[in-house]
Amino acid sequence: VRLAEGRGGLTVVRVAGRAGSAEIYLHGAQVTDFTPVGGQPVLFLSGASRFEAAAAIRGGVPICFPWFGAHALDPAAPAHGFARLGEWEFVDAHESDDDVVLTFLLTDTPATRASAWPHRFEARYTVSIGARLTLALQVTNRETDAFTYEEALHTYLRVSDVRGTTVAGLQGTAFLNQLTGVTEPAENNPVGFATETDRLYPGSRGRATVADPDGRTVTIESDGSDSTVVWNPWIDKAARMADFGDDEWPGMLCVETANVRRDQVRLDAGRSHTTTVVFEVTV
Ligand code: BG6
Repeated sequence: VRLAEGRGGLTVVRVAGRAGSAEIYLHGAQVTDFTPVGGQPVLFLSGASRFEAAAAIRGGVPICFPWFGAHALDPAAPAHGFARLGEWEFVDAHESDDDVVLTFLLTDTPATRASAWPHRFEARYTVSIGARLTLALQVTNRETDAFTYEEALHTYLRVSDVRGTTVAGLQGTAFLNQLTGVTEPAENNPVGFATETDRLYPGSRGRATVADPDGRTVTIESDGSDSTVVWNPWIDKAARMADFGDDEWPGMLCVETANVRRDQVRLDAGRSHTTTVVFEVTV
């Protein structure tokens, strides 16, 4: 485990473990690389990403918290919350079997207390790097009253070609098409990709399996999460995004472990909620 100056002068933690390697920026506590030993990188990171304090890194696993997308009441608030723009504290690194386990911390500041979500909180993020990647986001309410929040571990998976990739595990769940605002009925087959896709599956607990046309399968097993978001910007939106290459869209797919909209988390004073997700690649 090594702290280094990363891109744009931002601080990065580099991990070379027995079973896997990884890179995590303190900016957003954002995992930007995870590669199992002998395998390929699992995460997509845009070549056009900005690396600066004022912007979110485009790729890896941005943490969306404490709201998802545009803030419902404050259109000027940053999309997907302040956590991916904040500087997290690196509080611990230890080994557990073949895994390297890192812990990062974000707490409220005068700026967050003046934001659209002004509550006192502690967010503790544990990243375990081994043959599998395990992410756990624990949020604690440090207020004297209850609060609600949304969250997403907005994972950008690297795929060989999204047009041949499928996501199984979401059959049987009706979804909100975020491009039209219309709720569409559950499908019988795994999700495939032939156009811009931005879907929210509420009430989708458990496991999703991403099958890459190159033969790799990524299993995503979650706990504490009730929503899944599936996103690919396709051609036109890719062209509109300044921090995403115009030709990069076939090589990525976001499958996000989330609690958003009707699945937002309500926490009583002093209580915690943890959302955990494990990514495992089989070849
Ligand atoms: C996805 C949303 O989770 O994130 C999309 O469903 C959004 O609507 C995408 O475009 C990227 O968001 P951002 O703020 O990182 O550009």
